[in-house]
Amino acid sequence: MSDTSSIEAARAEFPGTEGLTYMNVSARGLTPQRSRDAVDAMMDNMQSGATDKAAMFDLIENAREGYAKLINAKTDEISLVKNVSEGLNAIIAAYPWKRGDNVVLCQDLEHPNNVYPWRHLNRRLGVEVRSVSPRDGAIPTDEILEQIDENTRMVTASSVTFAPGFRTDIAPIGAVCRERDILFLVDGVQSVGILNTDVEALNIDAMSVSTQKGLLGLYGMGFLYCRTDWAERLTPVYLARFGVDLGGSGAHEASLGDDDYALMPAARRFDLGNYNYVGVAAAEASIGMMHELGPQAIEDYTVGLAHDFARGMIELGMPVCGGEPGPHLGSIIPVGSIGEGQHDTTDDPAMSSLHDHLAENDVQLSIRRGILRFSLHFYNNSDDVERVLDLTRTWRGHNRAVMS
Ligand SMILES: Cc1ncc(COP(=O)(O)O)c(C=O)c1O
Repeated sequence: MSDTSSIEAARAEFPGTEGLTYMNVSARGLTPQRSRDAVDAMMDNMQSGATDKAAMFDLIENAREGYAKLINAKTDEISLVKNVSEGLNAIIAAYPWKRGDNVVLCQDLEHPNNVYPWRHLNRRLGVEVRSVSPRDGAIPTDEILEQIDENTRMVTASSVTFAPGFRTDIAPIGAVCRERDILFLVDGVQSVGILNTDVEALNIDAMSVSTQKGLLGLYGMGFLYCRTDWAERLTPVYLARFGVDLGGSGAHEASLGDDDYALMPAARRFDLGNYNYVGVAAAEASIGMMHELGPQAIEDYTVGLAHDFARGMIELGMPVCGGEPGPHLGSIIPVGSIGEGQHDTTDDPAMSSLHDHLAENDVQLSIRRGILRFSLHFYNNSDDVERVLDLTRTWRGHNRAVMS
């Protein structure tokens, strides 16, 4: 089968695509049947007393390895966390900050979970938060670079923003950080699993994701990547058994070494105690599916669909943020005017009316910061795109006055 036909066939593994046009992975993805089966099998074991802890540890290592391969990292460079913010905070807290150090970011385009940790760092330790303004709805790489000085210790950015959802030009930021020994910390949750992410090629030092969006897993489970060089210069603030190196797999989870404990290699030092095994089971299965289909094929297919969708919307005269699709646009298509609304409502009556019309017709999407956010993954197909364009055309026919 060609890349495209195997991806199209994979839609059959997503019962959620039946009877619903789902364009809401930016909030949470549809879970594939195989993840559901993996979770069910674990629950069966828990219910019947058949749980095998050694098998669960094998699952953890398979998931770690599968995720590492997905982002071109080494297995030891992955820690298992709860969500994006836990991973970001683990890195931030482990760094030896001094008063007068600074961090550079674009606060207006980061999710609050990548803003509050920095405000708190400022309050606690006097670290300066240097923020640049968005340009045309995107994080301006050149201005981020201009803000870097001799006191910059970290730069942080989302690979794709949660709203309006544009891609960030990550690699050049990472290149400068690498040259100047600055830690480049990425919130990857809106891209990983959808856009092919190679942490080496993108010069990313650390990246946190949760699994319920592009990775098609569950809430309460995430992965933290940290490059070996950096991880081994960091001292985790929280420490528990799985972050301590007792020398090989023979040591039991309840073994206690001597006072002079060693931290686990690379990012494993950020692991704490027992894992979210159910969340890991779901993610391990969906990540396996991504390997079967190929991460680059997934990106090409999904971005292709998203760009078709954006062009279709433009042809209908809809205000697609950023205009014609280009390198700024990944798999999220924002429609509306930036800044016209609250977190999940819009002040624009036309957009509000279109949203309601689509929702009444079983289209799932979200509103973020006043904009309609259509977000696609590989379970979407051209029928979904055509259906939403048709519904929009009909709506437009009845609402010419609101749109002009
Ligand atoms: C870019 C981005 N970062 C972070 C989060 C959420 O962070 P957490 O996983 O800590 O809840 C979201 C959305 O849920 C997001 O879109």
